[in-house]
Amino acid sequence: MCGIFGYVGNKNDAADIVLEGLKLLEYRGYDSWGVAVKVRKKLSVDKHIGKIGDAQVNLPQSVLGIGHTRWATHGGVTAANAHPHMDCTKTIAVVHNGIVENFQELKTELIEKGHKFISETDTEIIPHLIEENLKKEGFASSVRDAFNSLKGLNAVVVAYAPSREIVAAKTGSPLVVGIGKNELFVASDASAIVKHTKKVIFLEDNQMVILGKRLKLINLPGGKEIKPTINKINWKFEHGEKGKFKHFLLKEINDQRTTIIDAVTQNEKKLFEFANLIRNSFDTYISGCGTAGHACRMATYIFSTIAKKHINFAIGSEFSYYEDFLTDKSLLIVASQSGETIDLVEAVSAARRHKSKVTALVNVIGSTLYRQCDLVLPLRAGVERCVLSTKSFTSKLAIFYLLAFILKGEYSEGRKKIIKTARAVGELLDDKEFNQQLKNVADEIYKTKDIYILGRGFSFPLALEAAHKIKEASYIHAEGFAGGEPKHCEISLVSEGTPTIVFVPNDETKSAIISNATEFKARGAYIIGIGPEKQAVFDEWIQVPDLGVTSSIINIIPAQLLAYYLALKKGNDPDKPRNLAKSVTVK
Ligand code: F6R
Repeated sequence: MCGIFGYVGNKNDAADIVLEGLKLLEYRGYDSWGVAVKVRKKLSVDKHIGKIGDAQVNLPQSVLGIGHTRWATHGGVTAANAHPHMDCTKTIAVVHNGIVENFQELKTELIEKGHKFISETDTEIIPHLIEENLKKEGFASSVRDAFNSLKGLNAVVVAYAPSREIVAAKTGSPLVVGIGKNELFVASDASAIVKHTKKVIFLEDNQMVILGKRLKLINLPGGKEIKPTINKINWKFEHGEKGKFKHFLLKEINDQRTTIIDAVTQNEKKLFEFANLIRNSFDTYISGCGTAGHACRMATYIFSTIAKKHINFAIGSEFSYYEDFLTDKSLLIVASQSGETIDLVEAVSAARRHKSKVTALVNVIGSTLYRQCDLVLPLRAGVERCVLSTKSFTSKLAIFYLLAFILKGEYSEGRKKIIKTARAVGELLDDKEFNQQLKNVADEIYKTKDIYILGRGFSFPLALEAAHKIKEASYIHAEGFAGGEPKHCEISLVSEGTPTIVFVPNDETKSAIISNATEFKARGAYIIGIGPEKQAVFDEWIQVPDLGVTSSIINIIPAQLLAYYLALKKGNDPDKPRNLAKSVTVK
């Protein structure tokens, strides 16, 4: 969470370069933003609350600048709490991602020494710590000593007015350095740098880098210089343009016609190696958060039904409480779009403690999980800019299906089934009547307070995911259930007209889920059925083709579109829901 960008080089429009970088990082947080540039021996700062959008900065020309787009942790959304934060002399500017766990005690000590604070943030102690250290040592060592005194997982980028260097350090939160011609960049994510250069260094935890005329990488806490490993990234700069679409959400829903096929167009050797790790492990655990967690839950049904293989699922934030079950014969699979989700990084550390094997499905190449795991299958979904995950969800499902088919000994047949499903997804997305129907449903239900969603078997994680999408996009309370559960509790909440979406695929769940829908209807619910056949219980039927065991991939499409149209109806920004960020790097 929070996006950081820094520039030092021979161009004198540092403020614009930093702002452009922040726009590409805005998915990481968008409640406020700010930029600081060096102007001779002073720093000039511009801070704003709200999204960056098409904003411009009003700052002088400069060859060095740092900036930040914030997702608030300590302190509300105010200009004073926006980064960069400064010291008493206003010559040190800091942008920060993470949480300083011991900030209160450090702040008390600094106040006793006479430092004045103007924000409620934990970050503000960092420039003041550096200010103290500068009384006895140089800029880089002052940052190093300040950083070493912080507890928690943090990334900082620091500018000091008298210096033509930027200093950056990290533990936990991501930082990538870009090496251009006579210019250096630092950012939370390589996608913000790749436009300028393809040569990058992914900083490891407990490393610090000094960026000036040259680059110096050092180990923390000691300060010993180390040789950097320079990676060449081979992706094209993808602004993730919206093209003909009004929003990234709609564009990315539509991308699925190709991304599902790209997901199963993997390096075969790696695919089989991955499948073999599942086959040979004594026990396999799978973990993800949010939408990725729903994909992981779905994997348990996929592996059990197709490959007859049991997989243990835990959501990312709960995974470490199961760590006592892990051994050196266990396998952990984590699934993440960003590859930065802190709960999964910690799950990986837990698995490492028990010497288990660690594998991943990750979209962002070069991200923390991408680098930390023993074997990684890339999702190949392309840049996902909308905060709501859509195409990365179906890419994960496609890969889980393919792995299960490999375990069953049906790689080619399985791959064909998934590709056929992807083609059907394309046809469904092109169907104007289908799109219009979902718009009409949104028009009909957008004033409701609650939406319930039912599914059994494969469709249970789909019900959870459909509710997740609707909540994020529309802020309507939506809840997904395993179809048999509400009669133990939530059926008491159903009242006249409550929209209830029911997944009715042509599988073994059909008759039981129809009974569950009937129970809801008897209490007044308005039943919106998603399935290949019309059922008497449906008040509204959203038709999807029957694609057999891979139907779950296509069945989520109407829910994604409905969420989009509900967001529009409610006047919400479908790409940037309030209070959310795409990359969750705090616990
Ligand atoms: C949902 C959404 C979040 C993410 C979750 C995990 O639309 O965007 O719930 O799915 O934060 O993120 P990744 O996949 O990056 O680990």
